[in-house]
Amino acid sequence: MAKNEKPNSKTLVKLISLTKRRGFIFQSSEIYNGINGAWDYGPLGVELKKNIKDFWWRSMVYENDNIVGLDASILMHPKVWEASGHVDGFTDPMVDCKTCKSRFRADQIDLEKPCPVCGNKDFTEPRQFNLMFKTFIGPSEDTANVVYLRPETAQGMFVNFQNVRETGRQKVPFGIAQIGKAFRNEINTKNFTFRSREFEQMEMQFFVKPGTQKEWFDYWKEKRLEWMKQLGLKEENLKFHQHGDDELAHYADLAFDITYKFNFKDDDPWEEIEGIHSRTDFDLQRHQEHSGKSMIYNDPFDNSKYVPFVVETSGGVDRTILAVLMDAYWEDEVNDRVVMRFAPHIAPIQVAIFPLVKKDGMPEKSHELEAELRKQGYNVFYDESGAVGRRYRRMDEAGTPFCITVDGQTLEDDTVTIRERDSMNQDRVKVSEVIT
Ligand code: GAP
Repeated sequence: MAKNEKPNSKTLVKLISLTKRRGFIFQSSEIYNGINGAWDYGPLGVELKKNIKDFWWRSMVYENDNIVGLDASILMHPKVWEASGHVDGFTDPMVDCKTCKSRFRADQIDLEKPCPVCGNKDFTEPRQFNLMFKTFIGPSEDTANVVYLRPETAQGMFVNFQNVRETGRQKVPFGIAQIGKAFRNEINTKNFTFRSREFEQMEMQFFVKPGTQKEWFDYWKEKRLEWMKQLGLKEENLKFHQHGDDELAHYADLAFDITYKFNFKDDDPWEEIEGIHSRTDFDLQRHQEHSGKSMIYNDPFDNSKYVPFVVETSGGVDRTILAVLMDAYWEDEVNDRVVMRFAPHIAPIQVAIFPLVKKDGMPEKSHELEAELRKQGYNVFYDESGAVGRRYRRMDEAGTPFCITVDGQTLEDDTVTIRERDSMNQDRVKVSEVIT
């Protein structure tokens, strides 16, 4: 594939193989033939994930004095999900084929045509299927003890609105940011990690004065697109999609998705990676009604009282990672190598260190340099096995931006070579310049 060619579904197939081979992503419970919709991040994957989440946290919480963090529990009082509308509204219409028992989403199948699995044409009436995972608190499996695994992290931020505002000493407009797991019993899991049953979200709820929501919506919409670009995603692979009336979630009066050009489907290559939602005062009003606790804010600027409106930015960690992986994947045919061209600030390993040979003091010198760079906070990989060219190739596939080689000259003049991943350019520099 040429350097700037767009990723496509063939890329996805190769990427799945590379991510397993190099330890980015494994199928969950693989030795038992796996479980659909769940994935494990290996040694490289977990670093990539951590770097992306840290970058998000820094740009939300540390770079904004009016956004504070929260880590709410996954299990919440079941009334939360009644108030939020998820018990009644978070459903897909499903039909079953009466002959072969296959189950389909009613809006994704033509019920006038035969069953795509067995060819018969005898479907049940559409029934609503709730996407929330249900379980039970305590030993007794009765309706009084039902709890749900949260399908979005957002509700933890709404129910804690007053707690966080008071203790975080925040005034409207302000935001609450959270990263955490969410669970959805998706009917069709597909496209690798894209639609999973267990996934992570990075969400921020921004509480604003009623009437100002559109200006804040426009602000966050642009900010989030900018963040995606800073992550290294190519601009031409990113685009907004505005929700039509038929797509809007039950809580939203305006919503835009940031979509990425995954090319899963020929007719529509764009898929959502993050949503920016104008949630009005829906959630806070509902929690006020259902809990009996006030969500009113006394605005010190003009002494008005109101339930704030909310602008939400809701990103999927796993989908963002998948976009990053697809965007970074590059088959460099000229040099016969595969390179993951991650932006250096999110690369799983920042520096690799190689002794040219396993003798003459080169391993010892390499370990010294390794220890120094680790102390400075870099994730470093030491590799002494195989020809240097092969070691470079392995690091290219891991997306490591810089490889340092310690050779005979190093021991004479304290210089090393630094090889840059994408250009393959090599520079000889003083060790003191590397570790400053
Ligand atoms: N709080 C609002 C909310 O949850 P959403 O559009 O349903 O909105 C937000 O989800 C983001 O969460 C999506 O843009 C996507 O990145 C991620 N997401 C949702 N369902 C997912 C799934 N089944 N697998 C992986 N990521 C998912």
